[in-house]
Amino acid sequence: MKNSIEALQQEIDTFVINSADELEAFRLRFMVRKGSIAAMFNQLKDASPAERPHYGQLLNQLKESAGQKYDDAKKRLDASSSGTGKQHVDLTLPGRKEYSGSEHPVQKVLGDMKQIFSAMGFTIATGPELELDTYNFEMLNFPENHPARDMQDTFFITRKEGKDDLLLRTHTSPVQIRVMLDEKPPIRVICPGKVYRNEAISARSYCVFHQLEGLYIDKSVSFADLKATIYSFAKQMFGSNVHIRFRPSFFPFTEPSAEVDITCYLCGGKGCRVCKHSGWLEILGCGMVHPNVLRNCNIDPDEYSGFAFGMGVDRTALLRYRINDIRLLFENDVRMLEQFMQ
Ligand code: PHE
Repeated sequence: MKNSIEALQQEIDTFVINSADELEAFRLRFMVRKGSIAAMFNQLKDASPAERPHYGQLLNQLKESAGQKYDDAKKRLDASSSGTGKQHVDLTLPGRKEYSGSEHPVQKVLGDMKQIFSAMGFTIATGPELELDTYNFEMLNFPENHPARDMQDTFFITRKEGKDDLLLRTHTSPVQIRVMLDEKPPIRVICPGKVYRNEAISARSYCVFHQLEGLYIDKSVSFADLKATIYSFAKQMFGSNVHIRFRPSFFPFTEPSAEVDITCYLCGGKGCRVCKHSGWLEILGCGMVHPNVLRNCNIDPDEYSGFAFGMGVDRTALLRYRINDIRLLFENDVRMLEQFMQ
């Protein structure tokens, strides 16, 4: 028995505890009710009555030294461990900085536009960026091989199927077709989203940009309704003192069509570099929905009429925040984006 006690003492003394796992192994080996010290206590009853007190004393010492070693090791590990129980933490190091996100300037402008139109009763519709030729062109009254298709340099994904071709939408007007096919008038929606055009990339134009289009179809909607809507929008968006003018224009899907300018809100109409010294900035295209487009969507043009408009979002963001290169809006450089934190 004496030898076993000495062997156990040696085992305790040489047990290496450098981790939480080793500490637990030590506890299970020596300190629990089924551990080796407890087993020795059980053997006490086999010792002769004369030897029993002596061995009892030795075993108590053994138990005490194991307990001491356990407590010391635990203290040492707790002091040098972090929450994970393993890592050493240097509390003198600077803390990790928390970064808060911010709204992209394009999203800020889009948000304002959406708010103005929502207040007028427009709901928001979205559609796919990968679109069928038929929704992007054909049903919008761009017949096949019509020169109007050249107005918008297109990224085709497939080419030869005609109206079944897949392409990256060149405007958000195909969403209006999808809405007209899905819903019956009255329809009052805006369609915000990304559009793609195969254009030479420069500080002023990029291969992807954002548009917001609107569509209103009901009985006896007139050009006067279109004008009132655009006037109200432009004054809320760009300031109540801007002047607004409609210029005749052409789009295959509207007739009559117009482009809308506002007085340059940087120079107040006097003429500056941004408005190319004309005093005017073009903000959108619009018109009365072409009867062919209504017919293509199973809406009777004798019963219903409507107007549509479409505007770029990115240019307004560039002007509002005095950003001089459209590419900055798409590079997602954090040094640019963090300037829009609030
Ligand atoms: N879809 C046209 C464009 O991208 C804009 C527009 C929309 C014009 C609706 C008139 C009516 O240029």
